[in-house]
Amino acid sequence: MPEGTVLTIPIATIHHDKEIWGEDANEFKPTRFENGVTRSGKHPNALLSFSSGPRSCIGQNFAMIEAKAVIPVILQRFSFSLSPKYVHAPMDVITLRPKFGLPMILKSLEM
Ligand code: HEM
Repeated sequence: MPEGTVLTIPIATIHHDKEIWGEDANEFKPTRFENGVTRSGKHPNALLSFSSGPRSCIGQNFAMIEAKAVIPVILQRFSFSLSPKYVHAPMDVITLRPKFGLPMILKSLEM
């Protein structure tokens, strides 16, 4: 690579590659990861949510612990459904995110 070359890795595209993830690559399938991230795809570094190597995300462990601590507490207290205002427009800016946000309707599960 010539010095100064900007290299963009299409993470979202790689995460939907059927050669790596199989025919069900586009399905939400958490059981892919039941034997660990390195065995989820055909290549041990196939999952690039936090990138890989010396410039990978320094917040990775924090983000995972935060998600595991906070998401179960929220799910115990509320049910979720997608708001009719949601517009499906995935946007790939390093990570994949909804361009116009993700409006949700929350209902308390506490009686
Ligand atoms: C689910 C949450 C997160 C995701 C998916 C994520 C994803 C990523 C990715 C893909 C990169 C590499 C970007 C590149 O190659 O140019 C990155 C870098 C980085 N992330 Fe995260 N991140 C998350 C949370 C966090 C948190 C919570 C922090 C800080 C507390 C953080 C701090 C950083 C920093 C400082 C870098 C740059 C590292 C470097 O260039 O050496 N991230 N992140």
